[in-house]
Amino acid sequence: MALRLDLAEWQVWSGPGSFFRFTVVFRRLEAELPIRQGGAAAPPTAGMEEPHPHLLPPSRCRTGTTAAARRDSVRKKAEPRAPETWSKFQSSKLISPSDQKIQRQGGLSRRFSKVVSYYGLTTPPYKLDALEPYMSKRTVELHWGKHHQDYVDGLNKQLATSPLYGYTLEDLIKEAYNNGNPLPEYNNAAQVWNHHFFWESMQPEGGGLPEGGVLQQIEKDFGSFTNFREEFIRSALQLLGSGWVWLVLKRNERKLSVVHTRNAISPLAFGDIPIISLDLWEHAYYLEYKDDRLAYITNFMDHLISWDTVTLRMMRAESFVNLGEPTIPEA
Ligand SMILES: [Fe+2]
Repeated sequence: MALRLDLAEWQVWSGPGSFFRFTVVFRRLEAELPIRQGGAAAPPTAGMEEPHPHLLPPSRCRTGTTAAARRDSVRKKAEPRAPETWSKFQSSKLISPSDQKIQRQGGLSRRFSKVVSYYGLTTPPYKLDALEPYMSKRTVELHWGKHHQDYVDGLNKQLATSPLYGYTLEDLIKEAYNNGNPLPEYNNAAQVWNHHFFWESMQPEGGGLPEGGVLQQIEKDFGSFTNFREEFIRSALQLLGSGWVWLVLKRNERKLSVVHTRNAISPLAFGDIPIISLDLWEHAYYLEYKDDRLAYITNFMDHLISWDTVTLRMMRAESFVNLGEPTIPEA
């Protein structure tokens, strides 16, 4: 029984930027092949000389190559390589095209890359045209798809090199506010949160009067719903320039209040609990309302504000603030 060795060598692509080579030894017992008289092995037939082409490594799947030529080629490849030959494997020519592209862009190879995107663009909980005619699809597309997206992208870009890594967005806003001396990350972080909160403050066919506990709390803290509505509109109009108007629950006073903030300032930074927000930046209303900020605000109050969302937010807020009278258990 004769034992024959056949050597093959594969170069294996094991992932971006990394080759490794190994040698495969095909052990084949020629006793399994037809034997000529005298013990010599019969000339192998084409079908028995090599495994089926589909079983061959890709480098050997060539038609028109004789078995002898393939063996010579395999034997030649199997010869030990000089050390300087192996250094070729460190050549940039052998880096995968995708990693070469990353390197051209000044980035890191995938093996040494780090995650740099921490926050995503959240989607409004309705179709982009669902708030018409009070807020057009075009306005929502630009406001959400461009401005909100820009804040998300800007924040992620900053966080790629920022020590403010690993915070929730709320905690990042409080940390970056830095007791009234905002850090560079504050503006984008707050605007990402503010806009997400704003989209969820509205719903199609919203507006009107709240119900149940929300209405009772508003009447308790403002005297009447009409008073609240007027105060919300007045506060929004008093803001000069860009900013936001909010209904917040103040922790210490344990009551609802209306406040407005400039630019990207969020009541989260002061410890208040936001309940409603209205974006007063021009990009929020200029396409429909031009300079008529009053019409924009009143349409928000009367047709867009989501009292369903407000109810859920008030329920959550009551986990942190007791809005009733403290009940002292009897001894
Ligand atoms: Fe905005």
